[in-house]
This record gives sequence, structure tokens and C-alpha cells, in this order.
Amino acid sequence: MQAILCNATLATLCGPSCGLIPDGALVVADGRIAWVGHAADLPAEHATLPRHDLGGRLLTPAPVDCHTHLIHGGDRAREFEQRLQGASYEEIARAGGGILSTVTATRTASEADLIAAALPRLDALLAEGVTTVEVKSGYGLDIATERTMLRAARRLADLRPVRIVTTFLGAHACPPEYKGRADAYIDDMCIPALHAAHAEGLVDAVDGFCEGIAFTPAQIARVFDAARALGLPVKLHAEQLSHQGGTALAALHGALSADHVEYATDTDARAMAAAGTVAVLLPGAFYTLHETQAPPVAAFRAHGVPMALATDCNPGSSPMTSILLAMNMGCTLFRLTPEEALRGVTEHAARALGLADCGRLAPGLRADLAVWSVRAPAELAWRIGFNPLWQRWFNGAPC
Ligand code: NIG
Ligand code: FE
Repeated sequence: MQAILCNATLATLCGPSCGLIPDGALVVADGRIAWVGHAADLPAEHATLPRHDLGGRLLTPAPVDCHTHLIHGGDRAREFEQRLQGASYEEIARAGGGILSTVTATRTASEADLIAAALPRLDALLAEGVTTVEVKSGYGLDIATERTMLRAARRLADLRPVRIVTTFLGAHACPPEYKGRADAYIDDMCIPALHAAHAEGLVDAVDGFCEGIAFTPAQIARVFDAARALGLPVKLHAEQLSHQGGTALAALHGALSADHVEYATDTDARAMAAAGTVAVLLPGAFYTLHETQAPPVAAFRAHGVPMALATDCNPGSSPMTSILLAMNMGCTLFRLTPEEALRGVTEHAARALGLADCGRLAPGLRADLAVWSVRAPAELAWRIGFNPLWQRWFNGAPC
């Protein structure tokens, strides 16, 4: 398919001020962006293509949700009630609830059950223009269920017009059968599960949870070494509830991203900048867990650490399926600018997944686009619970 999208304001994200081009046009050809610029400069070679008049709307790269736990069994509404009565996320986890209650529900679900449960969550993201979704394992914690989760995640891309990126998160929690034996879990179950999932071609990246209620930097380092041996990029849930040293470890391993990072320090920010590690901010979890320590946004800015935003969609800490709400929360809770929020769900989210072919409007990139019934980028982060998406383009076609 070839077409000119015209009569639009483009937020290309190439250059300052969102790379805004008023009276812009964009040429789509065979799934890719062929040309971007001022409509008046449209090259003659494209002039005869069919035109799609966007009615003066805003055209942006389609959002990328770079951190989700979309595939899981069960729900955690009871835990939500417990937290409202004063129990903390960590107390619930230490009592065997939290992530482990979702592990129980996920282990008893079939692949078809997991897909059926995930589709409404995925559809909510797609309704806001999202075209790429990262999905983690980590609620199986045994070889069979980790693979089932990743297979289910990959199947979503056959059922909906979306690109799915899968992340192995075997080091998410220590399962009951290894209680008190976290080292044995890492060596005897988690790393073999990674090998098995990788052998099946199911793994795009490897993640872990470095926290007092999860794994130590030394345990995560062994998982990262296994990932490196397989040629897989790494990322890490780090510094979410306390400072454990996960961010520095992630940077040392050249991680694509360190996620949450509320307790990261100025030194951590420096290390991330030097390593090119993206800070993935997850305001939905901060909000849901009533956290009070915001991530060091000023340090990330000062050192030039790219900041991404994601939903962290999961049943416990962030039961959220709105990328627009993540943008709004990033601004209101973490004081990002609306431009940082837009870059956070496009350019920097793509980078957090190691994807160089999306996240901006530039020739050669995928034509994954979002058309919004707004005039300025700030309107995307401004409203709460309102979806101004007018049209979504995936792989060069409206859908
Ligand atoms: O990103 N922090 C660890 N993992 C998830 C929460 C998972 C859960 O509570 O089920 C997160 O917040
Ligand atoms: Fe997470």
C-alpha cells in the first residue's frame, strides 16, 4: 500500500520541540515511512499517490508499551483490598501472596486460557494506538509454565495487528518449592528454563527483579551471564522499593533498560548514561503501591539518561492498561514534561526494547502511526481517562 497522509501536524520526535512540523505530510510505502516533511515540499515522485486527509489532526509515531506482564492467570483484587487496609506490597509478598499468588493462578491456566485473559487487556492498549507491546514471563517459575507464557504472548501477534516482544523473567520471585533456596532456584531452574525458552526461539530479552523480596545482585548477575552467553540483551526491575545495587549491575551489563528506579542515585544515573541504559519509569506501580519516593528525574535529565514510560500492566502493582494514563501520571507524579512523556512512550520506549525501526517519524522506519484528534502533543498527557485516538496505522495500513 502507498499513500500520502496530509493535512496534519507531525510530531516526528526528530529534533527539539517534539520535532513538530505544522502543515506536514508523510508518505507510506510498503509498510515503511518513505518521506516526511512540510506538505509544500512533497517531492513530485510521490505527488500522485492517494491522499488521506487527516483534517488538521496530530500525527505521531504509534506508542510502544515497553514493560508489561500482560500474560497472567487470575486477579489480585483481594490484595488491593488488603493494601487499602494497611498491608504493604512487601508484607503480602513475604506472606506468600503477591507475585506467588499469580504464579499459582498462572500454573493452572492453559495457553488458551492465558491468551483469552490477555486479549481484553491488549485490546485496551491497541485502542490507544499502541502497536508494539513487550510481554514478560515470570509467573511460571518452572520450565513448562515459563514457556507456556511466552508462547501465549507470541500468539497474540497472530490474533491482533500488533508487534509482540517477549522477555524472559524467570528471576521474578522464588517459587514455594525453592523457598529459602533462591540460589538453587536460579541455577537449577531459572537458567535451565531460559535455555529451554531460548531453544524454542521464544526470548527477545532477559529480565529480573532485584529487590529484598526477590533476588540479590549476585543472583541476577548469574542470570545476566547466562543471557550474554546466549547473545540476549538484558534489562532489570531495579531500585523499586529500596536501593539494592541493581541499576549499577544493569549498567555494568550494558542493559537496554533499568525499570522502576525510584531509589536510583545520581551515581546510578551516571552509570546508566555511560552504558546507554534507558530508565523505564512506571508511574502506575508508584501510584498503586502508594509510593512516595519518585525516581531521580532531575539526575536522569542532567546526565542525559533517556526516560521511557510504560504501563507495567500486571495484576498486582499496576493493573493498568492505558498508555495515555501512564503519560499523564508520568507528568503529574514524576514531573515529566508532556514532550518527555511523548518521547517516553515512543522514541525511548523503542530504545528500551532495542528497536531501532520505530518510535519516530523518519524515512525508513516502520509506518506504525497514531492519528489523534488533538492539536498539540501536550493534549495527549493532559487529559485523564479520555482517548483522542482517531486512527491507528500498523505496518503501513490503517487498522
Ligand atoms: O513490575 N516489581 C516486580 N514485578 C512487577 C510486579 C508483579 C506483581 O506484583 O505481580 C512490577 O511491578
Ligand atoms: Fe514489571
